[in-house]
Amino acid sequence: MLQLRDSNGPAAVIRRADYSAPAFWIDSVHLTFDLDPAKTRVLNKMTLRRNPDVSVQPLRLDGEALNLARVLVNGQGASFKLDGGKLVLENLPLEGAFELEIFTTCEPLKNTSLSGLYVSNDSFFTQCEAEGFRRITYFLDRPDVMANYTVTLRADQQKYPVLLSNGNLMDSGALEGTGNEGRHFATWVDPHKKPCYLFALVAGQLVCREQRITSRAGKEHLLQVYVRPGDMDKTEHAMHSLMASVVWDEARFGLALDLERFMIVATSDFNMGAMENKGLNIFNTKYVLANQATATDADFSNIESVVGHEYFHNWTGNRITCRDWFQLSLKEGLTVFRDQEFSMDLCADASARAVKRIEDVRVLRTAQFPEDAGPMAHPVRPDSYIEINNFYTVTIYEKGAEVVRMMQTLVGRAGFAKGITLYFARHDGSAVTCDDFAQAIADANPDSALSKLLPQFKRWYSQAGTPRLQAKGSYDAAAQTYTLNLSQSCAATPGQEAKEPFVIPVSLGLVGSSGADLPLQLQDGSTSERGSHLLVMTQADESITFVNVAEEPVPSILRGFSAPVLLDFDYSDAQLLTLLAFDPDPFNRWEAGQRLALRSAIQLIASDTLLTGATLLNDAYIEAMRSVLRHLALDAAFKELVLTLPSETYIAEQLEVVDPQRIHAVREAMRAQLASALAADWQWAFEAHAPNGAYRPDTVSSGRRALTGLALTQLCLAARDSGDSVWPGKAYQRFKDADNMTDRFNALTALVNSGHALATPALAQFHTLFKNEELVLDKWFALQAGSCDRGGQVLPAVRQLLKHPDFNLRNPNRARSVIFSYCSANPGAFHRADAAGYVFWSERVLELDRINPQVAARLARALDRWKKLAEPYRSSARQAIERVADKLELSNDVREVVSRALAD
Ligand code: BES
Ligand code: ZN
Repeated sequence: MLQLRDSNGPAAVIRRADYSAPAFWIDSVHLTFDLDPAKTRVLNKMTLRRNPDVSVQPLRLDGEALNLARVLVNGQGASFKLDGGKLVLENLPLEGAFELEIFTTCEPLKNTSLSGLYVSNDSFFTQCEAEGFRRITYFLDRPDVMANYTVTLRADQQKYPVLLSNGNLMDSGALEGTGNEGRHFATWVDPHKKPCYLFALVAGQLVCREQRITSRAGKEHLLQVYVRPGDMDKTEHAMHSLMASVVWDEARFGLALDLERFMIVATSDFNMGAMENKGLNIFNTKYVLANQATATDADFSNIESVVGHEYFHNWTGNRITCRDWFQLSLKEGLTVFRDQEFSMDLCADASARAVKRIEDVRVLRTAQFPEDAGPMAHPVRPDSYIEINNFYTVTIYEKGAEVVRMMQTLVGRAGFAKGITLYFARHDGSAVTCDDFAQAIADANPDSALSKLLPQFKRWYSQAGTPRLQAKGSYDAAAQTYTLNLSQSCAATPGQEAKEPFVIPVSLGLVGSSGADLPLQLQDGSTSERGSHLLVMTQADESITFVNVAEEPVPSILRGFSAPVLLDFDYSDAQLLTLLAFDPDPFNRWEAGQRLALRSAIQLIASDTLLTGATLLNDAYIEAMRSVLRHLALDAAFKELVLTLPSETYIAEQLEVVDPQRIHAVREAMRAQLASALAADWQWAFEAHAPNGAYRPDTVSSGRRALTGLALTQLCLAARDSGDSVWPGKAYQRFKDADNMTDRFNALTALVNSGHALATPALAQFHTLFKNEELVLDKWFALQAGSCDRGGQVLPAVRQLLKHPDFNLRNPNRARSVIFSYCSANPGAFHRADAAGYVFWSERVLELDRINPQVAARLARALDRWKKLAEPYRSSARQAIERVADKLELSNDVREVVSRALAD
C-alpha cells in the first residue's frame, strides 16, 4: 500500500467500489454573491429532500477554505457541527422538502490555487471542476447531485460592469439603499439542471464580440466571446470556431444548442486549457486569443479544437454527466473523440485528415504510452485515487478517446451516430457511468461485433497498460496464401499483475510490389472491399489467412492506428521502404518512415559509434526522405511529419535503459545529417513553398509554413556545420519581415536552435516587439527554456529567466512556459549528469506547491519514468524525488504523485 500523509494525517484513498448514492437531493439553489476581492459574501439558499433509497443519516456538506457565519433550516437557527471541514447537520426533517440557508465568506484575492472563486487582473472568475465549488459554499460537491440554479451577483458598477453566470439573464440594474451606492446586480437563471462543478460566475471589465445565429430548427441564439478591452481584435477566430462547432454537432449527431445564450470568457490565469461551465465556458486566453501577428498556425488550430471540445461537452458532459469522478472518461474521452472528429471533418481533404490523425497518435504515443508504463498507470476508468485532479490524465483523455474510436470502428460511423442518439434517449438529464455509454452504443447496433463482445471489450475500461501486438507473416508461394499470426500481451501495471486479452480491431491491407493494395480474399471465401480488412482480435493468439495472393505482399497492419497498441513486426528495411513509398494508408506510410528512423537511432544509441561526422542514416533512408520531400503529389503538411524524426521521448520509450544524453546526441546527429545530405532539397522546399497570398490559417497554407519552417531549421543547422552564413542571414531576414507569427517564430526558432550568433539580437528584438503581449512572451520564454542544449548552457539560462521582470510564478501559463518547457519538454537539457536539472525541478515543485498544488503536481510528474534512467541519472533523480517526498507540508496532489513514483 502507498503510505500517504499530510499535515492532517493520512490522506484518504477514494475507491470506485465504495460509491453510494447521495443521502439527500438538492432540487434548487439560490446563490447571492456580494463580490469583494478581499472578502466575498455568499448566501446559499437550497431546497433539499432526503433520497428515499438511502438510509436516514445526517447531511454532510463539503466545504474548504470557507468562513461560516450562519446556518438556518426552514428559516430557523439550526444546530450543526464542523467535522474535518464538513458541515454536518443532524435532525433534519424526515419527510418532504426543506430549506437550508448557509451564509459564508471567502477570500478571492488570496486564492492562488485558481480553484473556487479567484481574482485575475481585477476580475472575478470561478473554476469548480472537479471539487472547487466547495470553496465557494458548503454543498454536496459531487456530480450526481443535479440542481436548478438561480444566481444573483452584486458588485461595484465601475469596477465590475459585466456580471455573468450560467443560463439566461433575468434581471439587472442598480442596487438601492444605503451602503449600495455605486453598486449594481444581475440575476441569472439556468434553465437546465446541473452538477455544481458546472457552476460559473465572471465579473469584471470585459468587452464582447457577439454573433446571432439561427439553428437548423429555426431557433435564434446569441453567441458571445468576452475578453479584456484590448483583446477584441483577437476574437474572430474563436467566434468562427464556435459557430462551426454549433453547426457540426447538429449535422453529425443531431445535437442542437439548448440555450438562448452561449458565452465564452477568456482569462489569463487558468490552471487548465478551458472549462465547459453550462452556457458560460471559461477559457485560458491561450485558447481564445489569436490574430496573425501574435498567434501561430498551431495556436489557431488548438483554438478550433478547444472551442469545439468545450462546446461539445454541452451535451456530452453537461446534459449527461458523470455519476462519480471515476467515470471522468465518460465525458472527457468521448468529448476528445468528438473534438478530434470535428477537426477532421473541417479538413478539406483526406490528406489533411490523415495529418490530424497522425498528430493525435503522436500525442498518444509520446505522452499516454509512457503514462501507461509508469508509476501513474491507471485504467481509463480508475479504481481509486487520492486527489481527483491528478486523474485528468492523457489516459482518461487520449486513451479514452481511442476506446470510443474503437467502438465507432466496430459499429461503423452511422451505427455510432445511432448509438449516441440512443444514449441521449436513455440518459438525458442524468449522471451515468462508462458502462451505460458502452451499453447504449452496443444496444443500438445489436448485430455488431461490439454488441457480441461487449463484456470483453470493456476490459479497455478496466485494465491499465498498453497491449503489445506481435505479428508474424508467412507467404506460401505454391499455395498463393499469406498468413498473419497475431498474438497479444499486456505488461503488469501497479495493482494489476495479470491481464485478460483485449478486443483489438486490426485494420490491415496487403501491399503488392507495384505499391497498390492487393485484393483481399479470406479462406472462408469472403472478400473485403477497398483493400483493407478489419480483423477483430479477441484471443491471445490468432491467425488469418488470405488466399489467391499472387505475390509476396508487404503487410500494412493497424491502418489508421485502429487500436491503441504497440505493434511489433519484423519488417525488413526494404519492406518499410515500400510502405513509405506506396502504402495507400497515409498513417502507415508515415509510420514506415518513423520505424526506419527509430531503427537507426536505436542501433546507434546501443553502439559506441562516435557521432561527429559519421554517416548514421543509410543512403536508402536519405534517398527515401529526398523523394518524399520532392514528391509532386504529397502535400506539405504530410511531408513535414514524415521528415520529422521521432522525438527523444518516443525513442526513450522504446528502450529498457535510458541514457537521455546519448539519445539527444544521436538524434541531433541524425538531424544534422538530414540537414546536410538534403541541403539542396531543403533549399528547394523553402523556395517552392514561399508565402502565396494573404495569411490564412487553413490546413493547406499552414502545411506550407510548417514545411518551410522545418526547411529553414535544417538549413540553419547545416550552416552551423559548414560555417556558411547565408541561411542564418535569410532566417534573420524572415524573422524581421514576416507578416505572421508562424513564419516569424519559426525563423527565430531556427536561429536559436542552431545556436547562431544572430539569435541574440533576434530574441532581444522579439521581446521589444511583443513586450505587451503576454501570450507571445510565453513563447519567448518557452523557446529559450526548450532550446537545444550544447554543453549545458540551458539550465543557467533558465535560472536567469526566473529572475526576468516578466516572469511570474503565480501565472500558470508563464510558469509552464519556463519551468515545464525545461523539465518536461527538453530532455537533453534537463537530464544532466551533474543532477542540477533535478535539483532545479525539486526546488520548483516545492515552491509551486505552496502557491498552486494542481500545477505543482503536474510538474512533479516530469520524473515519472526515473526508474528507466541509466546511472548516474537514476540515483540523482531518485534523490530529487525523495527530497520532495521528505517535505512534511505537501499538498495531497504532489504527495500522491511522488509517493507513487517511489513505490516499488
Ligand atoms: N473539463 C475540462 C477542464 C478541467 C479539467 C477543469 C480538470 C478542471 C479540472 C475541459 O473540458 C477540458 O478537458 N479541457 C482540456 C482541453 C481539451 C481540449 C482537452 C484542458 O483544459 O486541458
Ligand atoms: Zn473536457
